Amino acid sequence: MVKATSESSLSESRPNAPTVYLETFGCQMNELDSELVEGHLTALGYRFTKRVGDADIVLYNTCSVREQAENKALSRVGQIGIRKREGHRIVLGVIGCMAEREGTAMIRKYPQIDLLCGPGELDKLPMLLDNVLRTGASTDADRAIDRIALQGSNARRTGTLQAAEDSLEMLDLSRAFDPDRAEAGGRSAYVRITRGCNKFCTYCVVPHTRGPEVHRTPDAIVEECRMLADRGVIEITLLGQTVNHYLYTHGSALTIEGREAPQVGPGLKAFRQSAAASSLGARTTTFADLLHRIHEEVPAVQRLRFVTSYPRDFTDDALRVMAESPRICNYLHVPAQSGSDRILKLMNRGYTRAEYLEFIDRARSFMPDVSIAGDIIVGFPTETEEDFELTRSLLRAVPFKNNFIFKYSPRPGTVAIDRFEDDVPDEVKRRRNNELLALQAEISADVHAR
Ligand code: 5AD
Ligand code: SF4
Repeated sequence: MVKATSESSLSESRPNAPTVYLETFGCQMNELDSELVEGHLTALGYRFTKRVGDADIVLYNTCSVREQAENKALSRVGQIGIRKREGHRIVLGVIGCMAEREGTAMIRKYPQIDLLCGPGELDKLPMLLDNVLRTGASTDADRAIDRIALQGSNARRTGTLQAAEDSLEMLDLSRAFDPDRAEAGGRSAYVRITRGCNKFCTYCVVPHTRGPEVHRTPDAIVEECRMLADRGVIEITLLGQTVNHYLYTHGSALTIEGREAPQVGPGLKAFRQSAAASSLGARTTTFADLLHRIHEEVPAVQRLRFVTSYPRDFTDDALRVMAESPRICNYLHVPAQSGSDRILKLMNRGYTRAEYLEFIDRARSFMPDVSIAGDIIVGFPTETEEDFELTRSLLRAVPFKNNFIFKYSPRPGTVAIDRFEDDVPDEVKRRRNNELLALQAEISADVHAR
């Protein structure tokens, strides 16, 4: 059993309430997931601590996008293993993308882990914790299914997806936002509009760990923004892997009670057909409509922004809404990933360098002052000096306020790791990374000065 908490840390409302330490790795989506988990567990009587040494339960919300992030989480798992072997009674849970990607193999490799919960199953975390707390800390013999909640590879488009999403949606809907605990003094918050991703860029693990693209209902999103504004939030960042592909077709997905339900998004090709259908009058809410609704219906939100945009299919309507709405930030995070058409094709990005530049020109024609940020991957398999030079010239061609530069990291389960050898030596990746950082620093200074 989990050790009893000390007298001083007992919750008044729930004696012996276990104390939880939660650490988050990776992206903003994970930060939001952690906030929801903390809210959910707090409502159930768990207490949270900022000191891992005080915790009965240690949860790592992990990221799988690059190997480095996984290694960091693994070293924490190792440290907890040492403490458990020294006799400390700790329940260790690995949640998030790494749990989903590694699955039960992870628990076999690291027997100190008591529970695994993927990002698409976080609504089940209290049940898993309860099971572990009731039946005792792990031993090799009881690696039971009741400590593991993963979508598994069969989650894509199965008949049960809708039900799973509906239950996961409850986690967002029951959000207990505490302005005192939130970042930036509680004035700023994330709101998810889309889960998962359908794009399958060849290097990326996200479609495998977070599952298919599912759009939340516009009403739920607007309601959440309103609730946050009522609690004093003035800045909201809408989250999705490819926010501009947000599209909700009304009347096609209902819960058994007749409410509108989250909806699986169309793939890249189907998106254009669906967007065309919306212009023919099908009752849809596009990304532009959604931005407009939030801006008009929740005016207390003084700064509305969104990440991440996909360089394809950003409509003029969405750009116009941005330009015309004073409380929507003229900011785009729109990753180019590479400036070479050959590499973009191998990455399955679905656009060319010329199309990317055309989009930037179009965005600037609507918003001459727009701030543009992006992501670049260096050292993708087969990337030559010539390809790299094209990426450098892309950076010079766009007034990027900022670019996050990443060294390619082969990820298990992706197309790229199977299809291409990771043939760019690490020292070359490092050099290209440093060169781009230096170039971006010059560009940022220039943009800032202007
Ligand atoms: N290796 C390096 N960078 C990656 N990214 C995603 N997958 C990988 C990978 N396998 C980067 C992309 C993406 C950002 C979130 O992380 O640039 O936009
Ligand atoms: Fe990954 Fe591409 Fe989806 Fe972004 S758009 S999450 S890079 S697959």
